[in-house]
Amino acid sequence: MGVKVIVVKDYAELSKKAALFVVEEITKKPDLVLGLATGNTPLGMYQELVRLFQKGKVDFSKVVTFNLDEYVGLSPEDKNSYHYYMFENFFKHINIPPENIHIPNGIADDIEEECRSYDEEILKYERIDLQILGIGINGHIGFNEPGDELITSTHVTELSEETRKANSKFFENPDEVPRFAITMGLGTIMKARKILLLASGREKAKIIAEFLGEESVSTKVPASFLLIHPDVTCIIDEEAAQLI
Ligand code: GLP
Repeated sequence: MGVKVIVVKDYAELSKKAALFVVEEITKKPDLVLGLATGNTPLGMYQELVRLFQKGKVDFSKVVTFNLDEYVGLSPEDKNSYHYYMFENFFKHINIPPENIHIPNGIADDIEEECRSYDEEILKYERIDLQILGIGINGHIGFNEPGDELITSTHVTELSEETRKANSKFFENPDEVPRFAITMGLGTIMKARKILLLASGREKAKIIAEFLGEESVSTKVPASFLLIHPDVTCIIDEEAAQLI
């Protein structure tokens, strides 16, 4: 038990270390079930992974991926969708077979059914081997927002104003940020064999210090649940670590 914290100098180093961490897991288990995150933080890691793939250091042909979340109402072609993000930044540059890629469908006719079948698909592999996480400034992981309760399985969630504001940087108009998202639940995340959380920049310093300093788990800080997971590594840069 206990979160392993690795502090690195800057974002470039964080990205390299995170990519090597992933490559090591794939080397040990070529059919790794890999949980993936979006947002700004893992972008550098994806670039590094593509670079390592191009140099022949890693093979994604047997890797299976499950993304954490997707906005409700955005089609895979929408530039702000997490589908688009994943293909542009990662999948189209590596040799992963398309059928091994899983991302919730934000425009499914029956969203509840989409959530159910997403979990069923994960269960076929039993659980995720390595889950990559970022962290929201309010402590959310995936899109599991702070609240009175946290939901265990994949579900539709209403985004907090804070999260919509933080994510509006990707949208031309802040009003375009969807109000709802599909997210993997906290149960699925906690069931992952290994978790790698990445945080960079001073805007993450407060929440990193808060969650690592928690003595109890709280639904008000979803990331605090990571404290009771048996195998969590956090790679954070100096700016994000400055209040620890
Ligand atoms: C988003 C995503 C999360 C991500 C987090 C932090 O809302 N749903 O998966 O980890 O917010 O994003 P960023 O890395 O851009 O700070």
